[in-house]
Amino acid sequence: MQFSIVIPTLNESENVSLLLSRLFALDLLPGSFEVIFVDDGSKDGTQTKIREWEAHNKNIHLIERQEKPDLTASILAGVSIAKSDIIVVMDADLSHLPEQVPAIVAPVLAGKYDVAVGSRYVSGGSTHGWPLYRQWLSRIGGLLARPICDVSDATSGFFAFRRELIANIAEKARGYKILLELLMSGQGNLRIIEIPISFHDRAYGTSKLSLSHHLIYLQRLITLAGGTASIGTASRFAIVGFVGVFVDVLVFQWMINWSFGLALAHITSFLAAVTINYILNSKWSFQSHLEGSLNWHQFGRFLTVGLLALLLRGGVLALLVYTWHLSAELAIFPAIAATAIINYLGSAFYVFPENKNC
Ligand code: GDD
Repeated sequence: MQFSIVIPTLNESENVSLLLSRLFALDLLPGSFEVIFVDDGSKDGTQTKIREWEAHNKNIHLIERQEKPDLTASILAGVSIAKSDIIVVMDADLSHLPEQVPAIVAPVLAGKYDVAVGSRYVSGGSTHGWPLYRQWLSRIGGLLARPICDVSDATSGFFAFRRELIANIAEKARGYKILLELLMSGQGNLRIIEIPISFHDRAYGTSKLSLSHHLIYLQRLITLAGGTASIGTASRFAIVGFVGVFVDVLVFQWMINWSFGLALAHITSFLAAVTINYILNSKWSFQSHLEGSLNWHQFGRFLTVGLLALLLRGGVLALLVYTWHLSAELAIFPAIAATAIINYLGSAFYVFPENKNC
């Protein structure tokens, strides 16, 4: 047995047979891998489908968990019964192509790397069929993890690793992003490679990713970053935000009164507010994180986060108004809240990070 593939499932009955047919059609030595499904109480007959396959193939196994559904706990349960010391994790919904398993596992099998991450964001990687908001969320999730973990796709669900690494994370890991936990467990000593993958949105069934998963992810990021984000920095950041709004409005009104034109007033006031915010945040809100002084590189990052947050605000507004038919007057509040959170986390992790240990 060269490697074990662990696949978490929650209502994936339409995908099980398609996935297994493709996995067992791979040009690999017979018996060189096993497939361990870990199901969290599917209600659509997923378990029955897997049991049918299991009855005819001794290298297919099913764990039926009785505990509260959790993706990370499921993967850990799968790893615990794996026969091999090399583990591959992938989704059941065919968004990760079974044909790419050999490429993902090869670097770890060869002993050259501890973790191989299937990445959508390295050269050659791609994402197909995802709505724009999912692409944004994924990109933002990766961006937020970047300061603590230097890989391009820290939220990928397709990866291979040496089983012993799991021992360092088992106690504290939870939520959707076990890869991040795994990468952080090595404290900078892991040999990590990113392999380009094509991610295809599922054709059958629905995604289980919810708002609570995003919140858990943010919470884990904060913890893994060693408490970079804190109540103290968050409240100072909020005060600075209000100062920024004040400066923005003041400059805007002044320029409009002096007939500078709408576009120029809009851009100048935005830049003035960003500049003031950057200075106050680096000198006050995140003062404890910084050793150096103000610099253009950091200002560029601050500006990037600001623009991303602005884009996100547009996305959230569009989603709430056009898809959920909320009135624009109401929609602006969650949109502003999302922007503020992204702005803060972007600042805490990307612009003014405290430590890098991945
Ligand atoms: N056992 C178990 N328990 N399985 C679960 C649970 C759970 O609580 N939640 C989801 N799954 C399974 C699904 O059945 C699927 O096989 C896989 O985990 C991924 O879940 P999806 O809900 O389909 O995720 P997605 O397609 O929206 O998210 C994709 O993008 C994320 C962000 O990059 C996946 O590739 C994720 O792995 C990835 O993190």
